[in-house]
Amino acid sequence: TWTTGNVVDEQVALIRAQVGDKRAICGLSGGVDSAVAAALVNKAIGDKLTCVYVDHGLMRKGETEQVEKDFVAATGVQLKVVDAQERFLDALKGVSDPEEKRKIIGREFIRVFEQAQAEIVAEAGEHGESVEFLVQGTLYPDVVESGGGTGTANIKSHHNVGGLPEDLQFQLVEPLRKLFKDEVRMVGQELGLPEEIVQRQPFPGPGLGIRIVGEVTRERLDLLREADAIAREELTAAGLDREIWQCPVVLLADVRSVGVQGDGRTYGHPIVLRPVSSEDAMTADWSRLPYEVLAKISTRITNEVRDVNRVVLDCTSKPPGTIEWE
Ligand code: XMP
Repeated sequence: TWTTGNVVDEQVALIRAQVGDKRAICGLSGGVDSAVAAALVNKAIGDKLTCVYVDHGLMRKGETEQVEKDFVAATGVQLKVVDAQERFLDALKGVSDPEEKRKIIGREFIRVFEQAQAEIVAEAGEHGESVEFLVQGTLYPDVVESGGGTGTANIKSHHNVGGLPEDLQFQLVEPLRKLFKDEVRMVGQELGLPEEIVQRQPFPGPGLGIRIVGEVTRERLDLLREADAIAREELTAAGLDREIWQCPVVLLADVRSVGVQGDGRTYGHPIVLRPVSSEDAMTADWSRLPYEVLAKISTRITNEVRDVNRVVLDCTSKPPGTIEWE
């Protein structure tokens, strides 16, 4: 019979058989899949696994801390956090084009990840063990979509940030290859991962970098992070997390409109709310959120976030709109 306990036991045995006493590394994105894959492998081989988390500064409020503290607390995993915020901001300076932003973020991510990986390999080498395995959170639908079953690396460009290099000299460990998303969540729960990680809604690898329409700057990121945190807090408080697929919050950094706040005229930026319902993100409909929830979010964002004087709702389905704005 299928139980999450059986799945965990079976995978732990398989991972031990595959990896033996060699070392493995795993890139954490903050998403469910990589977290559950890492937790499974950690259960199997313990400190022979090192996880790498690249903090590109484009994460939402609390996300890096969630990986650094909650994930480590729940799993005891060895974690290498690379603070690459400056590097990403520098690389994104002056860039407004969405595709260019995506390419830059993907490229920088790979460079930082490879560098971290080389350091881990070098450190491990001193102790006479080589790093031969790379853990990936590939799910069954990913395998099917890519006509897979061959065990070779086939990472969609959507996956992680821009995909990992194709010439990686590693064997892959993919303990979630037979599972669907809901099963992965159950396995994560069985492994004791925090609810906030297990029930996480999709979030794009390039993060808030593609939710600022215009140039990405530290100031704009801080502002968007505040607005996003308020929207998420209110959606959670209203019990809507399971009902909506995700709700991108977008800053129109190149747009200003006139407003009035207190005694004075303002000339600030709009924030867009993009709540959607979906089965698989291929198509989506805009979520009919209760007016009271929208009102609360709007009031709080305009009151609490500096330089934002308008909140607008995106009521476009996909197609014709995509879920993200860039
Ligand atoms: P779009 O905007 O194409 O988004 O309708 C569909 C789904 O994919 C997510 N998304 C990404 N996820 N890396 C990711 O890991 C990316 O580069 C990326 N771009 C979009 C988006 O949040 C939505 O769930």
